[in-house]
Amino acid sequence: MTYQTLLTELNNNILTVTINRPDKLNALNKMVLADLDMVIKEVYETNEMHAVILTGAGPKAFVAGADISEFMSLSPEKGAALAKFGQDIFFRIEHSPKPIVAAVNGFALGGGCELAMSCHFRTASANAKFGQPEVNLGIIPGYGGTQRMTQLVGKGKAMELMMTGNMIDASQALELGLVNHVYEADQLLTQTAVLLQTILTKSPYAVSRVISAVNASFNNQVNGFDEEVRLFGECFGTEDMKEGVSAFLEKRKPSFRNS
Ligand code: COA
Repeated sequence: MTYQTLLTELNNNILTVTINRPDKLNALNKMVLADLDMVIKEVYETNEMHAVILTGAGPKAFVAGADISEFMSLSPEKGAALAKFGQDIFFRIEHSPKPIVAAVNGFALGGGCELAMSCHFRTASANAKFGQPEVNLGIIPGYGGTQRMTQLVGKGKAMELMMTGNMIDASQALELGLVNHVYEADQLLTQTAVLLQTILTKSPYAVSRVISAVNASFNNQVNGFDEEVRLFGECFGTEDMKEGVSAFLEKRKPSFRNS
């Protein structure tokens, strides 16, 4: 599929999705959100797509936030509806059975930081900058930022970042656990792809259950330990488990089929 605001490229079963509004620092307007919604659906449904790298066009920004120019006309009801629309898309990213990694190549502010945090993990270029500057605009994060920032960096640091609106650089984000790796800008996409290639040699069935089990830890409707027991048990009914264990015993590399 082609998208108005996204570029997509499929290589070795990894889909790179580039948010493409560099003149507006890739700000998330309604069209970008709608395109993201569609591309995530495409990823869920397309067998050849095994993993996703999400990044931003140009050297300056991943995503500099929700598009502020769309805010003035919003009533409280429309504001809440916008937050719900964005949250629903970000939930589908978070719960995707296929790994989705944000390669943060510059500013990740507001909705951009929230988008990155909804991904399974994050890599960053050395020039990346993160922040939740919504308080400067008289609002709060609305696409899950208050929740996921707290989960990722802890309550005190999340409170400070969201109350001050201060930006942090890539090395501070690494220290806080907001990103997993920092690379030179020209290495960001290739190194992120290397990480995903490693994941893609594993059982896709097991990888998707790791995602479910870890996400269960943040879902207060379920007991994460019970969920782990259930998912662990399910693995023993799969061809992937038989293949993985047989390959180990036969001293060969496994060939997984996601079944
Ligand atoms: N929404 C809409 N447009 C945005 C935007 C956003 N979140 N962030 C940047 N832009 C636009 C600017 O308006 C500008 O457009 P113009 O050239 O038509 O005037 C263009 O992107 C370039 O941004 P500019 O501010 O000139 O770049 P800069 O290098 O001077 O500053 C930032 C970069 C990221 C510090 C600054 O753009 C900024 O503070 N953006 C808003 C961040 C924010 O508050 N995000 C949370 C929103 S809830």
